[in-house]
Amino acid sequence: MNVATVTPSGPCAPPRSAAGTAVELLALHDGSVVDVRPIDPADACRLRRMFDRLSPASIYFRFFAPVRRPRAATLEHLASVDHDRREALVAVVDDEIIAVARYDSGVEPSGAVRSEAELAVTVEDAWQRRGLGLLLARRLAAVARRRGYTAFTASVLGENRAALALMRAIGPDVEVRFASAEYEVYVPLRDGDDDVAGRSRVR
Ligand SMILES: CC(C)(COP(=O)(O)OP(=O)(O)OC[C@H]1O[C@@H](n2cnc3c(N)ncnc32)[C@H](O)[C@@H]1OP(=O)(O)O)[C@@H](O)C(=O)NCCC(=O)NCCS
Repeated sequence: MNVATVTPSGPCAPPRSAAGTAVELLALHDGSVVDVRPIDPADACRLRRMFDRLSPASIYFRFFAPVRRPRAATLEHLASVDHDRREALVAVVDDEIIAVARYDSGVEPSGAVRSEAELAVTVEDAWQRRGLGLLLARRLAAVARRRGYTAFTASVLGENRAALALMRAIGPDVEVRFASAEYEVYVPLRDGDDDVAGRSRVR
């Protein structure tokens, strides 16, 4: 672990990788503009700071448990993706991460990469309900589809209305199945349907 990236205070180190410097602008419903870029290993520090700003409810909905604070190794793992089987897009304002959308695809017992990937989205409480989660999820869906993934899957706690609404809004034909206190969600990613994942719903 690079301890310098997880210091308790002070500025976080800048992105180290080329992916971490590929910044796009995203306009939200309320007119605010945020930077969006792929996550970078140096973001372990920013993820910790974001986590410290999340409400207990948001933490519970994201991790299905009242997590206190992820360990440094977990933060490093979350920040270090291969931009293929694992990807994460972050929204950044004033050098702080305010939202993350990530997918994680496992490996089949045969060693083959799965064609479906697990989706997770977290938006800092102060930035929720401005369209950011949905815009990030759609951007990530477009990236995943270009890499050959055919669907996102997600598990959503039964009382998490925001996440269910977000998943249903990603595109058409989203399937939602209730199974023992959780919803299992299946989001098809369609080839050649750029409008599904690429359109920005700026209101
Ligand atoms: C779920 C979450 C990512 C949504 O992010 P967001 O930026 O607030 O969502 P958006 O503003 O993009 O809204 C997306 C849709 O959800 C709806 N929505 C958002 N918050 C809602 C709420 N509290 N109740 C009901 N609907 C809600 C919006 O109206 C919108 O639906 P629409 O397009 O049909 O109008 C955010 O609430 C969050 O981070 N929660 C904690 C972590 C979590 O639950 N993650 C999901 C686990 S996979």
